[in-house]
Amino acid sequence: MKIKDLYIDFFLSKDHKKLNSAPIIPENDPTSLFNTAGMQPLVPYLMGQTHPLGKRLTNFQKCFRLTDLDVIGDKTHHTFFEMLGNWSLGDYFKKESITWSFEFLTSVLNIPIEKLAVTVFKGNDSVPRDEESAQIWKNLGIPEGRISYLGEEDNWWGPAGETGPCGPDTEIFYWRGSEPAPTYHNPDDERWVEIWNNVFMEYYKDKDGNFKPLSQKNVDTGMGLERITSVLEGVDDNYKTTIWKDIIAKIEEISGLSYNDENYARSMRIIADHIRAIVIISGDDAGIKPSNTDQGYILRRLIRRAIRYAKKLNIDINSDFESIIANMVIEKYKKYYPELERNKETILEILKVEKTKFSRTIEKGLREFEKIISSIDTNIIDKNTAFKLYDTYGFPIELTIELAKEKGIEVDEKGFKEKFIEHQEKSRAGSQDKFKGGLSSDDDVNIKYHTATHLLNAALKTVLGPNVHQKGSNITNERMRFDFSHPLKMTKEQIAQTEELVNEYIKMAIDVESQEMTKEEAIKMGAEAMFIEKYGDIVTVYSIGTISKELCGGPHVKNTSEIGKFKIIKEEASSAGVRRIKAIIE
Ligand code: ALA
Repeated sequence: MKIKDLYIDFFLSKDHKKLNSAPIIPENDPTSLFNTAGMQPLVPYLMGQTHPLGKRLTNFQKCFRLTDLDVIGDKTHHTFFEMLGNWSLGDYFKKESITWSFEFLTSVLNIPIEKLAVTVFKGNDSVPRDEESAQIWKNLGIPEGRISYLGEEDNWWGPAGETGPCGPDTEIFYWRGSEPAPTYHNPDDERWVEIWNNVFMEYYKDKDGNFKPLSQKNVDTGMGLERITSVLEGVDDNYKTTIWKDIIAKIEEISGLSYNDENYARSMRIIADHIRAIVIISGDDAGIKPSNTDQGYILRRLIRRAIRYAKKLNIDINSDFESIIANMVIEKYKKYYPELERNKETILEILKVEKTKFSRTIEKGLREFEKIISSIDTNIIDKNTAFKLYDTYGFPIELTIELAKEKGIEVDEKGFKEKFIEHQEKSRAGSQDKFKGGLSSDDDVNIKYHTATHLLNAALKTVLGPNVHQKGSNITNERMRFDFSHPLKMTKEQIAQTEELVNEYIKMAIDVESQEMTKEEAIKMGAEAMFIEKYGDIVTVYSIGTISKELCGGPHVKNTSEIGKFKIIKEEASSAGVRRIKAIIE
């Protein structure tokens, strides 16, 4: 049985409920581009909000960490990875958490206790040494010598952003050496690899850096699937596990080269890692397309980098190699992430279009690059040259840096960034001019959807009752998606009424106004907010007459009459107690 299934079944047997993986692109969280940990979508619940599924949760979560693209290509790092997790939201704490982790590892995965070691928090000025966890480990049979007490760098986790829930953790290590594990755990010995992290989230770090006790004691655990798989399959190279094997074999087949040849292994790993991440990001319902900002930029970089490494292996770029690999990834993961099947055509199209765009210029760009290298007599590529490679040949700055590094040359990155910002400001001014001229840009459409979201929220409250609250939303230039708390399927009449009401609000041509105030004032005046704790002390409240008041960052249309005609396309279940509406404006 697959580890993912074993894991979920184990925690279901301990009275947990299974959560679906949240999207890789966080919903309603402008502060982070990607979900980086299983706990990230759970922040409001770690802070005390009631979760509709209860206090014990488990899942496998899609995560993406762009720590450093440079390290991708070694045996153990990935941009996208899956994290197994279980949570207690103010329910069980250290004893159950540690005991169940131990039971899962030794009784379900059959890892011998002789191969395990653990670390616990050694304490600091404000939080005591975690003797409790150490004692629980000892009671389970972990000998004293296999327990290390370490500081914040090792045994404190979070917050995921600047502020948020965090706490001391206990980490579990597995002995990967060929000889028997030493009696004493040495944290510096790399043959001990971390496999699981149990965080005892009982603190909140505020923006002044203070740690305050949370209203409840939580547990947040995370186990990287790629890592535990390599441990169980007895290999020290993640790409040799069943997760990657067939994809690497396909790249070998396409290129006619061998993974066992050190000259090619790195390129193969990069292609495999990046195409998997590209599939997951472009397959997300958020509808991310390659672009020059935010997630779109990361997507573009991943595609271009994958193609460049394919070229290094002499793979024919004009073949369908990228589709073949992407299809394998979709097949592998669609059972767990059904959106990949749903968005399959989009994924393949995005890859192909971006590949074609890039391959047209890359040849020229690489030639230009060689020319530059042979003509400069300094050790540095100046900002104008770097910018020309970006602007004319589509080379992301990271690619220029990477190519230059291979030749032992540096790039004036700082100068490039200055030029880049200068250029962005110029083009922004250009698009504002266009706006003044009356051309409707993508941004305008987005703004209309944004205001329509507030109107829909208000209409649902009128039709279904005041218990409706927004649980998520996602806007593309083609449609909006709105998740809200409601226990029942909406009837046809309720859907029709809601749609009509929103259209009435639009026709009423109400001005949309914004006002800054303290969070307390906003709460007092009854403004809606999805995750009130995510906002700072001063908030902006957008009001649409007496119809809607919501905490929001904007932007919005000036008057509801700008929106157009609102139409509900679909009403469906999203998760337990949460319904989802998809709507368009025409
Ligand atoms: N949130 C913890 C981690 O990412 C479990 O390691």
